[in-house]
Amino acid sequence: MTPRIERDVTVSWRHQVLFTQNIFDAENAVLRDTLADEPEGGPRKVLLVLDEALAEARPTLVAEIQSYFKAHADVLNLVCAPFVMEGGERTKNSYFHVSEVQSQVDRYHIDRHSYLICVGGGALLDMVGLAAATAHRGIRHVRIPTTTLSQNDSGVGVKNGINAFGKKNFIGTFAPPFAVINDFQMLATLTARDKRNGYVEAIKVACIRDAEFFKAIETDADALAGFEPAAMQRLIHRCAELHMNHIATSGDPF
Ligand SMILES: NC(=O)c1ccc[n+]([C@@H]2O[C@H](COP(=O)([O-])OP(=O)(O)OC[C@H]3O[C@@H](n4cnc5c(N)ncnc54)[C@H](O)[C@@H]3O)[C@@H](O)[C@H]2O)c1
Repeated sequence: MTPRIERDVTVSWRHQVLFTQNIFDAENAVLRDTLADEPEGGPRKVLLVLDEALAEARPTLVAEIQSYFKAHADVLNLVCAPFVMEGGERTKNSYFHVSEVQSQVDRYHIDRHSYLICVGGGALLDMVGLAAATAHRGIRHVRIPTTTLSQNDSGVGVKNGINAFGKKNFIGTFAPPFAVINDFQMLATLTARDKRNGYVEAIKVACIRDAEFFKAIETDADALAGFEPAAMQRLIHRCAELHMNHIATSGDPF
């Protein structure tokens, strides 16, 4: 018999999705409490990548983010101004953007005790997630999704990736983020089309997994068509929950 050593390896992982409003309001402690989870070691270094379309649609956001980190400088250290990058599918079409993020990780000495935060749509989250998963063989990554789809699907999941050789998501990893934080206010600047995009995913998931959820979507149809906040938040929350359940119970999050 061939000599061999074999072990079963069990990996336990806590995957968290938090829901809040106005995450960069200085009074809001959700981000602070999530990042400063260890009292020792001085302020945590944070590098933050921001979706360009969002930054343009909400011109005060960069200043809001900087004020937030200034107010929490006792535990958080934003190493440079938010790094604004083009979002959307184009950002996933070249490895160059992953390198761009990783060069900032290198420049500001972002290590495995620091955080790489991405505030943006699913495409930017996928690209930055890949940069985080592969720099130093994995640094802490926090996702702040800013489209309906990314708040109820892509941002909540454990996958990342970019497109290559004409194929979608050809290069990528399965790497659960340190945390996902959904801020409903981030959706205010979306186009009607991008607000609706996430509904489609919710309907798909409801069809597959949850008849009650499907009925609730039908009941809320007019409110959803009118982008009423309460109806949108119900849809996002339940869809994200179904995704989380699947990740947690399907047997293999990786
Ligand atoms: N990782 C996963 O598990 C997973 C699952 C599903 C989909 N995805 C990926 O998600 C991507 C699609 O993501 P998406 O639907 O979030 O779209 P997106 O990221 O392409 O964003 C759509 C557009 O909206 C802009 N934008 C983002 N947030 C904004 C805001 N708040 N205000 C104004 N503009 C904003 C973006 O710059 C972009 O131009 C695809 O690449 C898909 O492959 C990943």
